[in-house]
Amino acid sequence: MAKLVINECKRKDRINAEIYGHFSEHLGRCIYEGLYVGENSEIKNTNGMRDDVVEALKEIKVPVLRWPGGCFADEYHWKDGIGPKEKRKKMINTHWGGVVEDNSFGTHEFMELCRQIGCKTYINGNLGSGTVQEMSEWVEYMTFEGVSPMADLRKENGHEQSWRVDYFGVGNENWGCGGNMTPVHYANEFRRYQTYIRNYKADAPVAKICCGANVDDYHWTEDVLKTTHDHTPKYLHGFMDGLSLHYYTLPGNWDSKGSATDFDEEVWYRTLKKALYMDTLIKGHSAIMNQYDPDKKIGMIVDEWGCWYDVEPGTNPGFLFQQNTMRDALVAGITLNIFNKHCDRVKMANLAQLVNVLQSVILTEGEKMVKTPTYHVFHMYKEHQNAYLLESHIDTKEVGIGEDKVPNLYESVSVNDQGIITISLNNLSANDAEEVEVVFAEKVVGDVKATILSGDMKDHNTFENTDRVIEKDFTDFKVTNKGVSFVIPACSVLNIRIN
Ligand code: AHR
Repeated sequence: MAKLVINECKRKDRINAEIYGHFSEHLGRCIYEGLYVGENSEIKNTNGMRDDVVEALKEIKVPVLRWPGGCFADEYHWKDGIGPKEKRKKMINTHWGGVVEDNSFGTHEFMELCRQIGCKTYINGNLGSGTVQEMSEWVEYMTFEGVSPMADLRKENGHEQSWRVDYFGVGNENWGCGGNMTPVHYANEFRRYQTYIRNYKADAPVAKICCGANVDDYHWTEDVLKTTHDHTPKYLHGFMDGLSLHYYTLPGNWDSKGSATDFDEEVWYRTLKKALYMDTLIKGHSAIMNQYDPDKKIGMIVDEWGCWYDVEPGTNPGFLFQQNTMRDALVAGITLNIFNKHCDRVKMANLAQLVNVLQSVILTEGEKMVKTPTYHVFHMYKEHQNAYLLESHIDTKEVGIGEDKVPNLYESVSVNDQGIITISLNNLSANDAEEVEVVFAEKVVGDVKATILSGDMKDHNTFENTDRVIEKDFTDFKVTNKGVSFVIPACSVLNIRIN
């Protein structure tokens, strides 16, 4: 029997809703086909956006969407993507399959997509191959309300009112595809570029995100912060509001990542162990950030995370299309629990990527659409958005094979403004259920509602069988005088809401 002790009297930091954010790049079939089909498509759409996909995204309360990349961002010239579509410049998408990008989805379309979803906007600027002027003018085009060359151009292109840009990324992966820079070089470029990202809206400032490290490159974090350090007093809103971190979970290595659907128990545990490594990374980078920013004014922004496998056989290798199983559900559950636990520093995270690319929440094929196991996890966890983390501890035992051992259970707990407590619990064991007793400090349990996602580790949804893995009601619990008790099945994600 595992005891889950919750101290509901000890509210910790608020879980920023943006931790449940997403990422959409001009890559494969994410934007085109996945989100945007154009006004003339036979697929039901509103202003070109797929109605079925938008509806599904609203159900998981997508809080923020990052665009246009990724590596694509540092090759993207925003002026190519505005104005009459037939006149828009075509370009080669050099990173992703070498296909022709016709720029029919640009700034206006992205803003329209976010309007339909009802989410905040995170635009990633081009520092790698773009100019300071280009970046500055993009912000003016989007956010300036009065009379100016860029605001006038926006109006000519049919949008009278300025938009709100909530977050702006000053380059992406500038240690790699975004210019192969050294940390000191990038940090100096960041200082320069960010100067010209003006705040035209006093009540809605643009939060600036600095490019952070890849995985465990602590040297990058240290040097970037050191080089920008004399701005410490300005580590207030408006200089650096966030520092990014990218980490992907690969069961194998970059040459042979492993199949999305065909794996054994050994690979199951190895993947989950690698997902848990996110906790080590956040602690490591936080320790450096704490030295330069002890008041935690700079948010850690994990704006790319998720599983990365070999592409589905027969699909374009440059399109990164992969299936999504119960293993992905567990990776999502664990990772979101880690983010919740670090909500004092992690202020945003963006799963890569929204539709048809890497660990997507939705897959499409023509007019067909399927929600992945990862989608259901985001649906279950949405109650944590803007809630307060609660202190919790769970007894665990090690499960796994050989060197790949993981704790069998992993949890996070929050309370919202209405006093409803949400427990998200993962059973990482491929085979063994576990008896759990939830114990509160003082709370007398009232209403309990629970849902579960469970199955065999390789279970997944297909276009032919869309409901093999779906969130189901879970009623097999007992209310005790201290809390609740139940048995959590092997390989599952459980969500309990207690009033
Ligand atoms: O998400 C796919 C790619 O992974 C992104 O374009 C890049 O930033 C990262 O390397």
